[in-house]
Amino acid sequence: MNAQKLIDTARTLVAGDKGLLAMDESNPTCNKRFAKLRIPQTVEARRAYRELILTTPSLGECVSGVILYDETIRQQKKDGTPFIKVINDAGIIPGIKVDAGAKDLAGHPGEKITEGLDGLRDRLVEYSQIGARFAKWRAVIAIGDGIPSRGCIEANAVALARYAALCQEAGLVPVVEPEVLMDGDHTLNRCGEVTEEVLRTVFNQLHTQRVMLEGMILKPNMVFPGLTCPQQETVDDVADATVRCLLRAVPAAVPGVAFLSGGQSGELASAHLNAMNVRFKSRIPWGLAFSFARAIQQPALEIWRGEQAHELAAQQALLHRARCNGAARRGEYSGAMEKPGQDQRPAEITRIGIKKAGNP
Ligand code: 13P
Repeated sequence: MNAQKLIDTARTLVAGDKGLLAMDESNPTCNKRFAKLRIPQTVEARRAYRELILTTPSLGECVSGVILYDETIRQQKKDGTPFIKVINDAGIIPGIKVDAGAKDLAGHPGEKITEGLDGLRDRLVEYSQIGARFAKWRAVIAIGDGIPSRGCIEANAVALARYAALCQEAGLVPVVEPEVLMDGDHTLNRCGEVTEEVLRTVFNQLHTQRVMLEGMILKPNMVFPGLTCPQQETVDDVADATVRCLLRAVPAAVPGVAFLSGGQSGELASAHLNAMNVRFKSRIPWGLAFSFARAIQQPALEIWRGEQAHELAAQQALLHRARCNGAARRGEYSGAMEKPGQDQRPAEITRIGIKKAGNP
């Protein structure tokens, strides 16, 4: 293991005001999102969409790394240029999702365990040879009546830690993603308690499995009330609860925290990240960054709808969301950036308003 290389890559992923773009939807998830917009669910449509994303001009200005899926990392542009070359040429670090998805956890109704450890060592070697420099594994934890159970939290934490150790052995920076889901009517406090317990358990296991904290990135959820909780909180309340939880559970040696968006609208995700950086940046040991999928991609996907004629507008929408999140890292994002003409970039597609959280 080359420790310094891991540390350098992890730091670069969260340097300055950049963050990660997750574009690692599995084929079934990507197809589901395409189906909603009547986009053909074919290999070629998925390839064309990923080419649109990766060839967005200036993407590297605010995106440090992209997370790919197994199908995508092996694909090329229409002109034959491998996606990996396109990414590197844009000054972006290629990464890869390596988990095999969340399956029912035996003996634990309503709970999931993420699979994919079998054969992982060999797959990591192959991905590294193709050009990946970091990897991602997502665990999901649901909140509900009597859940999450200790059994679910511990099983997922052990899997995350074993994955992270294997990544570092292979020279890939692990992006450790324990996602506490937003579904349910639980309060902000309940989400905070569960997220804190999950993070404490994950870091215990990372320590037990001898994972070098300086060479990893944490990808957590923000601390949120459940989507159907009658009491929704302000942006500042979410920012405070999230940072309080992280300060209690995340060691200072971790270089960066890159949030998932979890189904929030792009505008709300940017507003939350901005509030955290405005209120806490000078008092926290790690960079607070983004690793959003839907909160960066969704407007672009809705504009594209599989039509070549919409590609440019879709790229502009994608870049706009990436830039909004770059501004949020600096604590300079505001709703005014969402109004056409107000962000000094009149050529860009912008979207209005802050939508209520919810799955797109
Ligand atoms: P969202 O930002 O859409 O939650 O996706 C992040 C991700 O990578 C999920 O694994």
